[in-house]
Amino acid sequence: MDKLAIIGGRPLFGEVTISGAKNSALKLMAASLLTAEPLRLSNVPALADVNMLLRLLAELGVAAERDGDGVELSAATISSTVAPYDLVRKMRASFNVLGPLLAREGEAKVSLPGGCAIGARPVDLHLKALAAMGAEIDLDEGYVNARAPHGLVGARIDFPFVSVGATEHAMLAATLAKGVTELHNAAREPEIADLAECLIKMGARIDGAGASEIRIEGVASLSGAAHEVMPDRIETGAYAMAPGVAGGELLLRRARLDLLGAAVGALQESGLDIEETPAGLKVARRGERCRAVDIVTQPFPGFPTDLQAQFMALMATAQGVSSIRETIFENRFMHAPELARMGAKISVNGQLASVVGVDRLKGAPVMATDLRASMGLVLAALGAEGQTIVNRVYHLDRGFERLEQKLARCGALIERVRGE
Ligand code: UD1
Repeated sequence: MDKLAIIGGRPLFGEVTISGAKNSALKLMAASLLTAEPLRLSNVPALADVNMLLRLLAELGVAAERDGDGVELSAATISSTVAPYDLVRKMRASFNVLGPLLAREGEAKVSLPGGCAIGARPVDLHLKALAAMGAEIDLDEGYVNARAPHGLVGARIDFPFVSVGATEHAMLAATLAKGVTELHNAAREPEIADLAECLIKMGARIDGAGASEIRIEGVASLSGAAHEVMPDRIETGAYAMAPGVAGGELLLRRARLDLLGAAVGALQESGLDIEETPAGLKVARRGERCRAVDIVTQPFPGFPTDLQAQFMALMATAQGVSSIRETIFENRFMHAPELARMGAKISVNGQLASVVGVDRLKGAPVMATDLRASMGLVLAALGAEGQTIVNRVYHLDRGFERLEQKLARCGALIERVRGE
C-alpha cells in the first residue's frame, strides 16, 4: 500500500488548479444511463472513485471514451440492470444508478452499499422516494430489487431531513417519470444545481435545484448533452487551509468563492485572507498563527462536514480553544486520535470536539479511515516539525487528484512511497 512521506514546516507559495468536483462528476456519470444518446462530460477528475463508477457503468452496458479530462458516456442500450455487490460496496455513490436504471428500464437490482467508517449511512430516504414514485421495492440478500413495469410516476416527496444523495437520486429518477414530482426539504448543495443544469441540457424540466423545493416535470425521453463538471469545493476548501497551517500564499485556479458557503466566514475569521481575483482565489495567512474559531457542520450553505477534518487540523495549531460540532455523520472524528499522535490537544465528547491549539505539531506515522480525514492529516503534516508518514493513501486517491504533485509544485516536501 502506498504511503505519503511529508516533511513539514515549509511555507507554500504558488498555484493549485482545482479539479472537477468528485461528488458532482459521479452523479453526472449516473445520468448517462437516462439517455440512449452520448453524454459528454469535461473537467472530470482522474480519481479512483471515477474509475470505479466507470467499471460499474461498463457492466451495465455503457460505453466510455476518455480523452484527457473528458469522458463520453454512451448508453445506447442497457445490457444489464444489475449492479453487483463488488462494484457498489466500495463506493456509496454507485447506488445512484438504481433510479436511472429503474426510470429507463422499469427494473433494477442494485446491491445495498452497506455501512462505512464515518457512520451507518442508510439509504432509506432513497428507497422511500422511489417507492413514492410507484416503484415496487424489496430487499433480498443484500440487494434492492426494484420494479416499475409501467414506469415511474411523479409524486410529492417530503424529506424528513436533508440528504444530498437522496435528493439527487429522486431528481434523476423523476426526469423520466410520468407527471410532476415535487421534492420538499431538498438538499441545496451546489452539486445538485450542477446535476440539474446538465439534466436540463438533456431535455429535463427542472425548477428550483439549489433551493429546498425542487419541481421536476417528467419527459418521455432525454437526449445527449455536453457538460463541464463544476470545480470541487471540498478540494478548494482544503487547499485554502494549507497556507493556514504552513504559512505562505496560494492562488487556487478555477476555485469559486460562492461554492464554499459558511466555510468562507470560518476561514476568514481564523485569520486567512481570501481574495477573489479573475485568475481564481488568492489565499494567505495574515499573522504567524491562525485563531480558534467554533464551527458546526450543517447541510449547504452551512459548514460542510467534508471539510471538518481539515478544519480540525487547522485548529490544532490555532491560538485559543475551538469547538467543532459534527451534526451530519455520527462517527466522523476518527482523525482526532491520529492528530493527537502528532501532538494535537483534542478531546472528543460524542459529536463535539474541543481543540486546544498548540504552537507546533510534530511529525509521526499516522493513518486515516476515510478520504477527508486523510486530507486533514496531510494538512497537519504540512505544518508539523519533521516527517509524517500518512498511511493508506488509497483513501486520498479516491478524492484528491494528483495531491502530491499539486502540493510539491508549491514547495511542499511530499513524496509518495510505493508499497508492495
Ligand atoms: C454526500 C457526499 C458526501 C458528504 C455528504 C454530506 C457524495 C458522493 N457524497 O453523501 O461527501 O459528506 O453528502 O454533505 O456526494 N441518511 C439517511 N438515510 C438516507 C440517506 C442519508 O439516514 O437514505 C443520512 C446519512 O447517514 C447522513 C445524513 O443522512 O447521516 C446525510 O447524508 P447524505 O446527505 O445523504 O450524504 P451522501 O449523499 O451519502
